[in-house]
Amino acid sequence: MRIPIQDAKKNVARILRAEGVPSENASMASDVIIQADVFGVKTHGLSRLGYYIKRLRDGIILPDAKIWITRKFPTCCVMDGGNCLGQVVANRATDIVMESAKEYGIGACAVRNSSHYGIAGYYSWRCAKQGLVGISFTNARPAVAPTFGNVPKLGTNPFAISMPSDFGFPFHIDCATSSIQRGNLEVLARMQQDADLSAYVTCAGKTPSQILDMIEAGTCALKPIGEHKGYGLSMAIELFSSAFQNGAFLSGLEGYYEGGEKKPYDVGHFFMCINPEAFTELEEFKRNVGNVMRELKASGHQVLVPGELESIADAEANQSGIEISDELLWELVSFGWDD
Ligand SMILES: NC(=O)c1ccc[n+]([C@@H]2O[C@H](COP(=O)([O-])OP(=O)(O)OC[C@H]3O[C@@H](n4cnc5c(N)ncnc54)[C@H](O)[C@@H]3O)[C@@H](O)[C@H]2O)c1
Repeated sequence: MRIPIQDAKKNVARILRAEGVPSENASMASDVIIQADVFGVKTHGLSRLGYYIKRLRDGIILPDAKIWITRKFPTCCVMDGGNCLGQVVANRATDIVMESAKEYGIGACAVRNSSHYGIAGYYSWRCAKQGLVGISFTNARPAVAPTFGNVPKLGTNPFAISMPSDFGFPFHIDCATSSIQRGNLEVLARMQQDADLSAYVTCAGKTPSQILDMIEAGTCALKPIGEHKGYGLSMAIELFSSAFQNGAFLSGLEGYYEGGEKKPYDVGHFFMCINPEAFTELEEFKRNVGNVMRELKASGHQVLVPGELESIADAEANQSGIEISDELLWELVSFGWDD
C-alpha cells in the first residue's frame, strides 16, 4: 500500500513522542526516516523504526540528551551527541557545518557519542539543496570483515557526497561500503525471502536471518565493496568517524559492556560542507557538475547518474505516497502506527 508522505511523518513523530522523545526531536527524526522511503531506500526508513524504538526502550538512545560542542576552531568543531537520536545529532552538526561554509567557505564537524543516524545522504543532500557541497560519513557496529578476514570488524560505514548541479537534481552518491548491507538482509528476512548471498558474505549456504544472527555472534561477516579498495575506503570512514574525536571504533561499537550488559553504541560521524562560491561562481559550479553528469548520462542509454534514482523516487512519492509492504505495516501497527 502507499501512504502520503505527510501522514507517514506525522505517524512516526507521534510514535516517537509516545516513547518520550520531545516534539522537536521527534519531528526531526521522523523527517530523516521518511525521507529514506521517499528516496526509495527501503532498508533505512520505516523499516528501521523498530531499531530506534527498541533502543529508546533499552535506554541506549536517550530521547532528550544534551548535545554540546566540546572543541571549537573557527571552521571546525567536535560535537558530543550525548547518545541522543542520531538523526537529531546529525542535523545539529549539519546546521553548524553549513553555517561555517556560508561564512568561511568550509566547515567540518566530528561527532562523538551519537547513535544510528539513518541515511548518510540526508545530511549531504540538505547542503546541496542550499547550493553547498555536503559530505557525510558514519561508522557503525561491526558487520564487515577486512579483505582476507572473516571476522566482522568494520561497520557498513556509508559515505554520502552531494553537489548542487544544473541537471535537475544534485549529484548525490550515498551508499554503504559493504557489498550488501544489514538493512538488505533485514528486508529479505522480514519477507522470508531466500537468496544466494555467497558473493557478499564470508559464510556459505545461510539464509538472510541466519546471516544476521551469525554476524551478531561474530561467525560470519559481510564483504566490503570492491575487495581491498572498499576495505580501505571503509577504514578511512572509520578513521574520520573516530580518530578526530578520540571516539569508539571497530569492536568498541558492539554495544555491550564487558559483562554482556547493553551499552550505547557511541557511534561517530564526520560532516563537511564546502561553499562552491569560495572557488567559483555558484552557477558556474552547478554547470560544471551538470556537464559531468550530462556527458556520463549521454554515454549509454541505460546509464544513470548518482542521485537519479532518488530524484525519480522522490517525484513518485510526492505524487502517490511512499510504499509500505504488508509485512512492514504489521510491524508498524505493533508500535502504534495509525493506519
Ligand atoms: N547509518 C548507517 O549506519 C548506515 C549503514 C549502511 C547504509 N546506510 C544507508 O543505507 C542506504 C543504502 O545503502 P546501499 O549501500 O544499499 O546503497 P545502494 O547500493 O542502493 O546505492 C545507492 C547509491 O547509488 C546510486 N546509484 C544506484 N544505482 C546507480 C547507477 N546505476 N548508476 C549511478 N548511481 C547509482 C544512487 O543514486 C545512490 O546514491 C544509504 O542511504 C546509506 O547511507 C546507513
